[in-house]
Amino acid sequence: KEKYMQIIITMFEKGYFPGLENIPVAKSSVSNIDGENGLLTFRGYPIQELANNCSYEDVCFLLLKGDLPIPQEKKELKKQLLASKGIDSKIKETIISMNDNLHPMYMLSSSVLQLQSNDPKCFDLDQYTVNLNRAIQLIAKLPTIMGVYQTQNPEFAQGKTFDSFAQYILYCFNQELAAKPKWVNILDKLLILHGDHTMNNSTFSVRAVGSSKASIYASISSAINSLSGPLHGGANEKVIKMLTEIGAPENVESYIQEQLKAGEKIMGLGHRVYRTYDPRALYLKEEILPQIFAEDSPEVNSKLENLYNTAQKMEEIALNKFADKKIFPNIDFWSGLVLRAMKIEPKYFTTIFALGRIMGWCAHWVENLEVKNKIFRPNQLYDGFNTRHVLRDQLK
Ligand code: ACO
Repeated sequence: KEKYMQIIITMFEKGYFPGLENIPVAKSSVSNIDGENGLLTFRGYPIQELANNCSYEDVCFLLLKGDLPIPQEKKELKKQLLASKGIDSKIKETIISMNDNLHPMYMLSSSVLQLQSNDPKCFDLDQYTVNLNRAIQLIAKLPTIMGVYQTQNPEFAQGKTFDSFAQYILYCFNQELAAKPKWVNILDKLLILHGDHTMNNSTFSVRAVGSSKASIYASISSAINSLSGPLHGGANEKVIKMLTEIGAPENVESYIQEQLKAGEKIMGLGHRVYRTYDPRALYLKEEILPQIFAEDSPEVNSKLENLYNTAQKMEEIALNKFADKKIFPNIDFWSGLVLRAMKIEPKYFTTIFALGRIMGWCAHWVENLEVKNKIFRPNQLYDGFNTRHVLRDQLK
């Protein structure tokens, strides 16, 4: 009720809804957030339970089809994903030829668009099962784009076999760690945590673009572009840069003060919906990072430990400083440390986010077509000139 009261007050006070804050734009059964209590569920299941007990394939099945798979269904989905990961050689050439200066997120989004060339019937959107199959085909190909790009090898992963889709994803970023079950398991959980997150900016992009009956390639590509922004998924890359720049725990306090004085936000803190600790961030903090840092692992060096200590100090200060504004660490605050421990370069961090979130994006794309949502076409509060006329003399 409070939320809806706020909507009405905003309507009266401003006459429009900046950032569509609190405005429901679609009916969806994919995921749900209780922002006051820090609860996130996928199709009703709390994400902690999914991360503890499930694999990428389970959650992919759940998000796309609405229920957890039975073992045979899971086996079939895994088989389908691994069998569909190949991409056309012409597209691989394009991926390899992309300029190094292009951010990997834009390399990924433009490569996703290229995949349309192998799906001439991409505008035939009437059949649910065809749409689902299209989504699975696309999910399967995303890691391959990353693997081909990073190795610059069109033969990448050919002839290799994988035990799980998470193992394949890790292989696309770090072939050595992909042989270690501990790291595959950690990445699996990280991808699950990123699986979906209600009507966030990138999911809204999928639904908005998809609502014009544009192809899945156009819809997912737009979501990747949206996710690249530092106020959204791009924050994970910025957080590691920030922690590196801060350099040591004793510099955190002054860094925060300077940022606030300059009117800048601290990356990895705050959320539109959560008024408490982001449950995904909490899971990383409590379940994943202690596992990485507790053991005498060769992947953890003093540089990484320093970043971890700096992050812990920042969390401690932020929890005190921003308590009244209810600003807490979000998933991007901690995820970069996990990815850094996997020796993944920061410029690729947000692409890993996309490889998890594509499950949710596709579920929303399919759902949007099923519920026959109207084309997204909001209104505006016009704030410009009244009608005026071109004076020819002025142009001479
Ligand atoms: N650092 C300092 N202050 C902050 C921060 C922050 N990270 N986030 C919010 N605030 C403050 C704002 O300055 C504002 O204060 P004011 O009321 O005194 O002006 C208040 O909290 C509300 O902030 P808004 O920006 O209005 O909140 P909004 O819901 O629009 O934005 C957002 C949420 C974009 C996530 C914001 O918190 C932010 O920019 N965070 C940093 C970037 C980030 O970590 N993004 C990842 C989000 S999670 C994800 O997408 C996966």
